[in-house]
Amino acid sequence: MSSSVSQGTSPKDLVRENIRNLRPYQPGKPIEEVEREIGITGAIKLASNENPLGPSPLALEAAAKMVAQSHLYPDGAAYYLRRDLAELHGIAPEQLVFGSGCNEVIQMLIGAFCVPGKHEVLSHKYAFISYRLQTLAHGCKFVEAEVTKELGCDVDALLAKVTENTRLIFVANPNNPTGAHLDKSQLEKLLAGVPPHAIVVIDEAYHEYARVADADYPKSHDYASDRPLLVTLRTFSKIYGLAGMRVGYGICSIEVADFLNRLRRPFNVNLTGQEAARASIRDVTHVQRSAELARDGIAKYRDAAAELGIVAYPSLGNFLLIDVKRPADEVYEALLRMGVIVRPMAVWGLTTHLRISIGTDEQNERCLNALRTVLK
Ligand SMILES: Cc1ncc(COP(=O)(O)O)c(C=O)c1O
Repeated sequence: MSSSVSQGTSPKDLVRENIRNLRPYQPGKPIEEVEREIGITGAIKLASNENPLGPSPLALEAAAKMVAQSHLYPDGAAYYLRRDLAELHGIAPEQLVFGSGCNEVIQMLIGAFCVPGKHEVLSHKYAFISYRLQTLAHGCKFVEAEVTKELGCDVDALLAKVTENTRLIFVANPNNPTGAHLDKSQLEKLLAGVPPHAIVVIDEAYHEYARVADADYPKSHDYASDRPLLVTLRTFSKIYGLAGMRVGYGICSIEVADFLNRLRRPFNVNLTGQEAARASIRDVTHVQRSAELARDGIAKYRDAAAELGIVAYPSLGNFLLIDVKRPADEVYEALLRMGVIVRPMAVWGLTTHLRISIGTDEQNERCLNALRTVLK
């Protein structure tokens, strides 16, 4: 078959301009890569806000049973997981939209509601990076509002950036990488101030950690009954310890869910993940233990901050942002050489900051000792 593209044409000349200019998402460095590069063993990874306790044993058991059925396509409608989650949240099953991680639901929202070159997606500085990347990949303008002194969402500044072209407003509550959150009154102010042409997405990837950390932490879905344009995001990647299985979901109105489902890839949530997710909801003890471990760990880092001469930002998640008051890349590299993988924040423009995911007690102790050595 003859091609109209000559042999000499570079893909660079053909790719859409917004993709050519896009810097890909940089995940936390995998343990194996660090060990290979540095020639060490026994490295620990505190870089991707994973649950150091791993999945619930119930989830592992459920997943193992499903592996034998891997020749079958999964249930594209995720019937049983949908039913269980609807019961858990007290909603209609049709209000749920599943994604291969909630990253995919973010992509579906932008794909369904934003016209490239026309609509704007709004968030704030230092917000979860996927909002920006996926907006730019789609060919829309990403608008960032200024933040509070603690690097949290400033609701007034955010609302001031809304224009007639704003279609989606993303706020992670709590936010990654800062750990900052909106309290009840701030969330209510945001919801009251958004004009009717914009959809508000409250990303609650760390919800289960936050609700243990702060009794006043608001659940966005409580405000959904009279707001058809409010979407809540949740994931099984964080407290449920199933990041590798890629299961996330959105809670929204039946109408919004219907539009998102038109765009959803067939069989996007795998067979094993669906059953592991169902089992992990049942293991409330594992969830509680995981949340408490994170709270204790954050308290330890915060206690050590003064002694280390660093700033630790408040966090309701299972991670915390620290300002090491010197070029963070050097601290990051020195920690790497000691087998401790954390996350540098230069991509966000925070050149003296690192984000540390909370590990087990031993991992936290090792990270703190490494920081003591590097920062002394
Ligand atoms: C705030 C926030 N939202 C969404 C996600 C995406 O999670 P997943 O796609 O694994 O469900 C993350 C993961 O780091 C996150 O931090």
